[in-house]
Amino acid sequence: MKTYIVGNWKMNLSVGESSIYLQKLLKRIKLAKGLEVAIAPSTIALQSLSVQLERSKSKIKLCAQNFYQKDYGAYTGEVSVMQLRGIVNYSIVGHSERRYIFGETNKDLRQKVAAAIRNNITPILCVGETENERSYGETKDVLRDEIFGALSEIDADDVKKVIIAYEPVWAISSTKDAKIASPDDIADSVKLIRSELKEIYGKEVSEEVPILYGGSVNPNNAGAYLTIPGVNGLLIGGSSLISDHFVDIIEIAKRVKS
Ligand code: PGA
Repeated sequence: MKTYIVGNWKMNLSVGESSIYLQKLLKRIKLAKGLEVAIAPSTIALQSLSVQLERSKSKIKLCAQNFYQKDYGAYTGEVSVMQLRGIVNYSIVGHSERRYIFGETNKDLRQKVAAAIRNNITPILCVGETENERSYGETKDVLRDEIFGALSEIDADDVKKVIIAYEPVWAISSTKDAKIASPDDIADSVKLIRSELKEIYGKEVSEEVPILYGGSVNPNNAGAYLTIPGVNGLLIGGSSLISDHFVDIIEIAKRVKS
């Protein structure tokens, strides 16, 4: 299975700044076999960065941060995943900031996962418990709900086109008092996610779905996270905006996974 390193820039960098930053990355990132690197800038920068990547013949991929689940129509202000075809290969779906700030529900996310698959864009479905849910011992139920909620209408063939990112909300750097998740915490949750997938789709499929970890990843902890059994890559927020850090994490991934 490939190793995925995905940088989520969130609502940062103007179009010009995004292009300058990508230029910097293009000079420094050396891809390796089996390593997939994607960046998720703001929607407004996707088109120009896709031209920049095409011109430079880079294999770095683009990832959307979000989209609306209908393909087209009277949805003022929205961008559909169909409109992103040919521009991105991936899209984050159900990031906790979408769930908690913008009120996205499992039903919305079920439609988004289906829309992404229908349009040949790989959804990176984020799941993860809040601090409160964790303290009440509800992690297992939350992961189960979020996975069933988003994937219940997806068949086994299509679920192989999905990537899951385990992002405990309490460990995300934008969260007040964010904490660092230990490799043991992550290993337990990744096991739970795989066993949920196994229950729905069987063992073989459950082993083919890549699972990424995200939440305060930086060059100091990336190596430990990438060696957790069952973790196939990282979804990186804050550190992906610091070119030295992002490049370091890619180098660490090459070393750890080679
Ligand atoms: P972080 O963000 O790396 O800044 O914690 C991760 C994410 O929100 O995807």
